[in-house]
Amino acid sequence: MTNNTMTKGMSRIDGRLKVTGAARYSAEFTPAGMVYGVLVGSTITKGSIRLIDTKAAERAPGVLKVITWLNSPKIAGYQVEHGKPEPAKGTYKLFYNNKILFNGQPIAVVVADSFERALFAASLVKAQYNADPHHTNLRDNAAKAFAPEGDGTTKRGTEDAWKTAPVKLEQEYIIPSEVHSPMELHAIIAKWDAEDKLTVWTKTQGVQDTRDGIAGIFKLPKENIQVNSKFVGGAFGSALQVWPHEVAAILAAKAVKRPVKLLLGRADMFTSVGYRPYTWQKIGIGATADGKLVGITHEAIGQTSTYEDFNEGPIGVSRSTYACPNVNTIYKLAALDIGSPTWMRGPGEATGAFALESALDELSYELKIDPIELRMKNYASTDPESGKPFSSKFLDEAYKLGAEGINWKDRNAKPASVTKDGWMVGYGMGGGMFGAYRDKAAAKAILMADGTLIIQTAVSDIGPGTGTAMVTIAAGVMGIPADKIRFDMGDSSLPLAPSQGGSATTATVGSAVYQACTDLKEKFQKLIGNGGTDHPDYAAILKQHSLPKLEVTVESSGGTERDKYAFYSWSVHFIKVLVHPATGVVKVDRAVCVADSGSIVSPKTARSQIVGGAIGGIGMALMEETVIDHRYGNIVNNNFADYHVPVNADIPQIEALFVNKPDPHINPMGAKGMGEIALIGMAAAVANAVYNATGKRVRELPITPDKLVGMDLELS
Ligand code: MOS
Repeated sequence: MTNNTMTKGMSRIDGRLKVTGAARYSAEFTPAGMVYGVLVGSTITKGSIRLIDTKAAERAPGVLKVITWLNSPKIAGYQVEHGKPEPAKGTYKLFYNNKILFNGQPIAVVVADSFERALFAASLVKAQYNADPHHTNLRDNAAKAFAPEGDGTTKRGTEDAWKTAPVKLEQEYIIPSEVHSPMELHAIIAKWDAEDKLTVWTKTQGVQDTRDGIAGIFKLPKENIQVNSKFVGGAFGSALQVWPHEVAAILAAKAVKRPVKLLLGRADMFTSVGYRPYTWQKIGIGATADGKLVGITHEAIGQTSTYEDFNEGPIGVSRSTYACPNVNTIYKLAALDIGSPTWMRGPGEATGAFALESALDELSYELKIDPIELRMKNYASTDPESGKPFSSKFLDEAYKLGAEGINWKDRNAKPASVTKDGWMVGYGMGGGMFGAYRDKAAAKAILMADGTLIIQTAVSDIGPGTGTAMVTIAAGVMGIPADKIRFDMGDSSLPLAPSQGGSATTATVGSAVYQACTDLKEKFQKLIGNGGTDHPDYAAILKQHSLPKLEVTVESSGGTERDKYAFYSWSVHFIKVLVHPATGVVKVDRAVCVADSGSIVSPKTARSQIVGGAIGGIGMALMEETVIDHRYGNIVNNNFADYHVPVNADIPQIEALFVNKPDPHINPMGAKGMGEIALIGMAAAVANAVYNATGKRVRELPITPDKLVGMDLELS
């Protein structure tokens, strides 16, 4: 590596493959004899299938099979032990019975010799239903919400202490459902190699978790299942579990004795692979006149399905972000006739931080204290919830970096007081936090006779540049140039790795790679003897000892330090917005996002992570909203014309800054995660900037022009 690459970071090792189209995603493999599956979705929202007519579809050209609940083979993992009752909750079971639990639920899979023929035949499947009344609106069903297991109602200090504070406020905040919207559609190719042996290519954040999930559903030995996911075009939490469309393809492949490809359409991506749940929140917050927090009460009701309790704990942020003696939280779920939600970037915290960081901002105006100063007055130096010291926290430095970056001193504390060229100008900030995890992972490092280093581990790379980070770590330890290192991943037969999720990959898998390379280098040092050398010529040593290669496999995980410290990554986002008073259009003019996530292993891809998360946050703040027509229970904006995600024209220059100080406790690299904190707090920062610009507080996302126009914007 040159000095320049050391400071600026390596470019993506797979960048060329991706931009030339040489990278192959899960839908792009072509096993011999492959045929195509297409799902048919329910057009009602709740009830049962009275009659399903598949004859026309079966007679259509090229059709090999139509599977419905009437002829579906029994799926071993779905079956309930004889005499035992059907469990009230659990994951949804494909083609298990005639019950309809949500709009768009698959009622049939059609398999044909071409995608077009399968699609046409699917249009011929006709169902008649017995429809029951459905409930898809959280607002109308909040009264029936119930406390989920774990992480619901908690209390520290005195309950509702905020009510006794000299300065206080209570407000409600709403976020709508949002969908992950990765560029790459979910897809699977399923191929049975024998009666009980299966290979799949599927979009997943974890090849081994998917393998284990399939093993559980089909009651197959894990070692009989091979899962491949070499490239993933974004996932954001949508590929952390085995979904019904994957089950459908596996079933269909068995039925037709051919490999089956099943690719979801964009509309299916709104109903079939989860979403961030619509959540209502209420925050009561109070402080002394000089800005010391007295109490926070954070209440939330999130939507879930009738068949599964999805608990993402959005109230957790209020317990650990600020030093506040009295915090109580109440979290409930409302079960609606919709598909289950799932994890989506910053799950829980992104939702909770919108409410908490908006409420803090509102409080800062009540107190007439600068929002950064208010946060510094309540800075938590130890985890207020557990009492443990933080493994590291340099958020105060992040505040300084960000404030300088955005020119915070240009902010006028009086809302709706600055205009430029006919636009109202405002500044806002919002913070994020997320647990810094380190799980168990293994890695194998092999030094080949030609001096090439091969690193192997079963991790997926859903886009952040994991391979690049791992090669950077290996290059640093071994002193081998990056172009002589090969990184193998996305294959369930490789050494143990968890799913890529919860911002834990670099800390987890990176530690295993670091350890494997350290041990391998030591093995070489021993061969040389005399204490070794810092820059061994690996190929020469192998030759000298007549060895074809040298390899080590290590398993690595966190230890007792995990109990001693509270591990978190921190972020703060600074935003400058322009708001057009006549049309209510909001333009994010500048964004400065600062991460305190330990040492930065891979500067270029870390920057991309922050920029990508910030864009997601701008989408959350200004555009994204899944709209259900509650009369019918279906999503009406299930396409990219109607469900808006930010495009280049919506995105300003985004500056990503890093405190870049090692966490001394998390792992040998000192690196904490940053995938989630890149987004968490961003929506509040935008909403807070809109308030500063206009004097209008929007507490229900997204901040679309109609909401602002309705508020009659004018200078104060
Ligand atoms: Mo993430 S929501 O852990 O992919």
